[in-house]
Amino acid sequence: MEKDIARILIPKEEIAKRVRELGAVITADYQGRTPVLVGILKGSVIFMSDLARAIDLPCSFEFMQVSSYGSGSKTTGAVKILLDLNCDIAGQDVIIVEDILDSGLTLSYLLAQLRTRSPASLKICTLLDKPARHRVDIPVDYLGFTVEDAFLVGYGLDYAGRYRNLPYVGELSRAVYESP
Ligand code: IMP
Ligand code: MG
Repeated sequence: MEKDIARILIPKEEIAKRVRELGAVITADYQGRTPVLVGILKGSVIFMSDLARAIDLPCSFEFMQVSSYGSGSKTTGAVKILLDLNCDIAGQDVIIVEDILDSGLTLSYLLAQLRTRSPASLKICTLLDKPARHRVDIPVDYLGFTVEDAFLVGYGLDYAGRYRNLPYVGELSRAVYESP
């Protein structure tokens, strides 16, 4: 795996530190409440499992899965729900947990969907944000890192289903996705 990584953008120690900080802010913001963490499969799984352990509050885990990318490195823009919540979020304090905000189309669609279900509050926590690629405006409440426009893998992010288990966030070598 390592040979396919052009460079490491965010080493694991830096991720761990930032995740602890985000957990502390969320803990302070949600005092007296029981937030529902809605992880967007599959990219958010590693981040969510670390983030949840940095939140010192009762909370629950739910998951949704949407598709927009297929297995390539460029978005098609079309979003589809592959797996929906199986709980009622009406009156709940929902935090969407996402790996990366790229065009914003996925989160824009999810926000619109979840808003119709009348949560008490709805916020977004994303590990990474690539502002150069935004096509819609998304209000991010909790952000790990702003990153440049490169194709990133690791710490949950994949290319064609692989590299999610790298402990850091790295840039994928172009050779991997441009090879004939
Ligand atoms: P958006 O709808 O364009 O904002 O895309 C968000 C989704 O695209 C994320 O949840 C990721 O699954 C995927 N994605 C966007 N950029 C990258 C990347 O650099 N590496 C891996 N996945 C990415
Ligand atoms: Mg994703």
